[in-house]
Amino acid sequence: MRARAERAPPPRRGRGLELSSPARPWLPLVPAVPVGYTRPVPTGAGSFFDAMAASYDDLEPWYEHLYGVLHGLLRAELGRSGGAHGSRALDAGCGTGFQTAILLELGYETLGLDLSAGLLDEARRRCAGARLVQGDLATLPWRDETVDLAVCCGSTLSFVGDARRAVQELARVLRPGGRLFLEVEQRWSLDLLWRLASSLTGDPLGYAATPAEARRAFGRPFGHGIWLDYPGYPRLRLFTPRELDTLLVEVGLAPLRWWGIHSVTNLVPSTILHRPRLGGTLGRLYRALARMDRMLAGTSIARCAANSLVVLARKPDARSAQSSA
Ligand SMILES: C[S@@+](CC[C@H](N)C(=O)[O-])C[C@H]1O[C@@H](n2cnc3c(N)ncnc32)[C@H](O)[C@@H]1O
Repeated sequence: MRARAERAPPPRRGRGLELSSPARPWLPLVPAVPVGYTRPVPTGAGSFFDAMAASYDDLEPWYEHLYGVLHGLLRAELGRSGGAHGSRALDAGCGTGFQTAILLELGYETLGLDLSAGLLDEARRRCAGARLVQGDLATLPWRDETVDLAVCCGSTLSFVGDARRAVQELARVLRPGGRLFLEVEQRWSLDLLWRLASSLTGDPLGYAATPAEARRAFGRPFGHGIWLDYPGYPRLRLFTPRELDTLLVEVGLAPLRWWGIHSVTNLVPSTILHRPRLGGTLGRLYRALARMDRMLAGTSIARCAANSLVVLARKPDARSAQSSA
């Protein structure tokens, strides 16, 4: 939602989560002493996204392509597992409910959680059948092993201060045999080069980075993620596949499949793809690149050089844990 911020009104103050909230549709799932609800919800990312609520669903070319491919993968992977009958899914960082709507449509009993009250209001309008709560990924308000599937998309994990804690929480609420479908921002995309080039030539592309900032993004060891400032967004974590793989394994999840989205499409700088429309030759070029990008999504090139990294991971069940011991 990068460019949306430039069109959105200034962020307003975030709202805390109130214990006495009259609507607590998640109650049947929480333990007697709810986990995480004694802590105020941090206001930074939540209030930032609140300010985007009105324009959030107007997708620029960048997001049209990202969600087209991402949601195709999500449907294909969930279809492959043989249906949702009687299964419960969590959309972690649900925003206005793009993925929540897909989970509902596929027949999951669906939970959603987000920091932003403004985006949750939109999600409630779109996804009447889901149980949506305001909360923090760092302290999920559900018992251990309550969901069969967790989805965390739209770069949500890239906005979270403590990604390890959030992934640990997602692993905790997954049942043995349950799956996590995760999408984050990836470090080694062409955008780092566009940002550097722009910073060295008076910033015609609008990345708003100084040459020193743009060079620093290349300074960390190859396999490490970085934090990056992108115009109009809170600071973003860009992960590497190796870093994300380690993180998942450390919390007890086994990565099964990887994809990359926006590898060749990033031959066009992301700041241009966040414009409301691309006309003429550029529009035609982008559509051709988008077709190629879709075909490449499952390849190792895309996994290593795409802007968005997608992974499906599984929590081993007792049987697979025993056989691997
Ligand atoms: C770019 S949006 C993605 C939303 C949605 N999944 C989508 O694809 O449209 C990122 C979301 O993460 C939420 N978020 C950021 N930090 C969070 C946290 N610590 N706990 C819960 N939600 C968080 C934001 O409020 C925002 O809705």
